[in-house]
Amino acid sequence: MTVSDPVVEAVVATISRSATEIRQGLIGRRGTADEENPSGETQAEADVWADELLADRLADIDGVGEYGSEERADVIDCGGDPETEPDTYAVAVDPLDGSSNLKSNNAMGTIFGVYDAALPARGETLIAAGYVLYGPITTMVLATETGVSEYEMSGGERRVVERDLTLPDDPVVYGFGGRVPDWPDDFEAYAREIERELKLRYGGAMIADVNQVLTYGGIFGYPGLASRPEGKLRLQFEGNPIGYIVERAGGRSSDGKESLLALEPDELHDRTPVHVGNAELIDRLEDRLD
Ligand code: AHG
Ligand code: MN
Ligand code: MN
Repeated sequence: MTVSDPVVEAVVATISRSATEIRQGLIGRRGTADEENPSGETQAEADVWADELLADRLADIDGVGEYGSEERADVIDCGGDPETEPDTYAVAVDPLDGSSNLKSNNAMGTIFGVYDAALPARGETLIAAGYVLYGPITTMVLATETGVSEYEMSGGERRVVERDLTLPDDPVVYGFGGRVPDWPDDFEAYAREIERELKLRYGGAMIADVNQVLTYGGIFGYPGLASRPEGKLRLQFEGNPIGYIVERAGGRSSDGKESLLALEPDELHDRTPVHVGNAELIDRLEDRLD
């Protein structure tokens, strides 16, 4: 099932083709590079390698005016201005989400967002977002204006397995990041309510945890912490794309006050608290947080 916008289709097809290679290329790249990413986190060898592979290929697509990545301080100018030129977009990528799971051989993924604006941009300017999940099998979840679909990936091709993916009405799972002593009191009180109602699913890669929420219903959050009120996750590369996907699937996203997609970014690597899942659970969270 292809996407109607030819530039978005080219981005999605390029990432689909690269997914098989990235999965294969993780072997032998499980160590750490001696570099830090712009968020000050030690990079895995695979972070750097996957970013270079995706940058080369995505920058080459007609209609991709900019490439931004969690692993690069600055946006790459690919020869077009998403602000002024029609059918010219900015692609933001988290090349490997949950790369600390590589050492322990747990699930991880690649996140991408296609913004009809120059980076850093508000999530409301997204026209497509998706992620590849390197789990027991490789799948892709893709959201566009028309809805959310899921694909199984093999041999560089994608085969649709779910055309209208929507959050189940009855929530089942939850997962909250950060250390409990570092949670603000109001968030901890909320978490204590939720843990009595739902089953814990937290695996250290946001998109693997979010995929559980999309499959079973529930909530994923990485809250603002007492030690770091802005939280851990990056708005451009993690919060916005996942917020777009979950909202298109009938759920909500929030930084604790409002939809992630409404947030006005200052910097490319801004962090934000991230909460996504069933609307009723997100509404309750916003009511709980002071
Ligand atoms: P990344 O590997 O791209 O930096 O992302 C890791 C993020 C996210 O995937 C996950 O939810 C979170 O970090 C886990 O953080 P903790 O290790 O603090 O639980
Ligand atoms: Mn990530
Ligand atoms: Mn990453």
